[in-house]
Amino acid sequence: MTEFKAAEVYLEAGSRKHSVPVVMVGTENYEDFAKGLTPAQKNWLALKDFNGKAGQLQLVPDEDGKLGLVVLGIGASAGDMIYNLVGSVPLQVPEGIYHLEGEGADSFEVALAWGLGAYVFADYKQSPASDTRILKLDKAVDGEKLYNITGAVYLGRTLINIPANDLGPDVYEEKIKIFSAGFKAKMSVVKGDALLVKKFPLIHAVGRASTQEPRLIELNWGKKSHPKITLVGKGICFDTGGLNLKPGNSMNLMKKDMGGSATALTIAAMIMGAKLPVQLRVLLPIAENNISGNSFRPGDLIPSRKGLTVEIDNTDAEGRLVLADALALADEEVVEELYCFATLTGAARVGMGPDLPPFYTDDDELAQNLEASAFEVKDYMWRLPFWGPYDKWLNSQVADVNHVSGGPFAGSITAALFLRRFVEQAKSFVHFDIYGWTPNLLPGKPVGGEPQVARAVFDYLSKKYG
Ligand code: BES
Ligand code: MN
Ligand code: ZN
Repeated sequence: MTEFKAAEVYLEAGSRKHSVPVVMVGTENYEDFAKGLTPAQKNWLALKDFNGKAGQLQLVPDEDGKLGLVVLGIGASAGDMIYNLVGSVPLQVPEGIYHLEGEGADSFEVALAWGLGAYVFADYKQSPASDTRILKLDKAVDGEKLYNITGAVYLGRTLINIPANDLGPDVYEEKIKIFSAGFKAKMSVVKGDALLVKKFPLIHAVGRASTQEPRLIELNWGKKSHPKITLVGKGICFDTGGLNLKPGNSMNLMKKDMGGSATALTIAAMIMGAKLPVQLRVLLPIAENNISGNSFRPGDLIPSRKGLTVEIDNTDAEGRLVLADALALADEEVVEELYCFATLTGAARVGMGPDLPPFYTDDDELAQNLEASAFEVKDYMWRLPFWGPYDKWLNSQVADVNHVSGGPFAGSITAALFLRRFVEQAKSFVHFDIYGWTPNLLPGKPVGGEPQVARAVFDYLSKKYG
């Protein structure tokens, strides 16, 4: 069984005697730097037209023709850009052990950029390609904080990357059990027909056609006296679309439809790892949206935990249904902040692309703070409105609410508005419509699963409550 990667796989403390230097050189100081090179190395870099321009990367041999050093051009830019430049290095250099030299080499952000950029998911290869590029940390870097954040992101990525044949609801529950035991969090599960008894009819309806029972997993951690933060995450282990079956390619990536729950677990790992003084509750509706004789159908009228009856329009809009019951439970007490994470709509991707998840909240101050954190830690998001006038598009002739709007417009907004109908009490409610996946290599983001917005939300929470 696939195990989660520890941050230490790519980030090591200790002596840097035997590691290969990655020297960050700007256009201004290239001449100075070159004075310390051997004539052969200088000629090699001249041949390669290396002059320190931002983004240039060259492997430089030593006298034996082995890798002596790596030079990374950082142009005239200091500070901010360096994160992006370093985040792209690990997957461009051979397996080995490295350390950074030059301005900023001792900064936390640069070590984080390496750690996030070095992750490789190769657990299913019989003979994994050489894939470990280790960074020896500078003494100035806060290793504890770095490992906490990086390890949590690896956890989220790996959960998303594991395919649905190995991460159905049963195995996912097992993994969450191990996870919560590691942090001494309390875990409880309601599954199968017990969902009906305990009044989670929507979670049951979406997941009942799968051979693995749908379930609601709850984690609790922290002191009762601390402010309450509740995280809700969509955990659809695979989304076939149900009877409204997804066509062709649209199903290919649907193992990532539990990405919202992976983001919630990533943030939970960061909070618990840092012992943030909050009272944390995590609610994960976990199910597979599959097909059988007992599938829920378009036209079905289903009660919800909150009491509202829901008219089913399209069984492929399953995420908002399982979330509605989980949010209703979360909202049965007054919480300080209620967060919802979900790979909810294709419309969010059409509008924003894969790398800029939209988020929704009525709390302007919180929105500003979240955006500030997002840009600071380079885990981006962009606010879209809970546009009130569209709320009526969810009205139903026969039930209290329809879970989709009839028309082709504003699909991410109307999905968010549907969720908002199930939240009344929370002091602040924020919903993120994430993609959960990096389709093209980005600095610090290898192709594959990504618990988007986790680092940003944690940064905001640590500033507020830390
Ligand atoms: N999981 C999908 C949304 C999704 C699709 C996210 C592709 C990322 C990439 C969700 O369950 C879904 O299928 N939504 C439908 C809703 C529609 C039927 C109203 C969609 O967006 O097409
Ligand atoms: Mn769907
Ligand atoms: Zn889905």
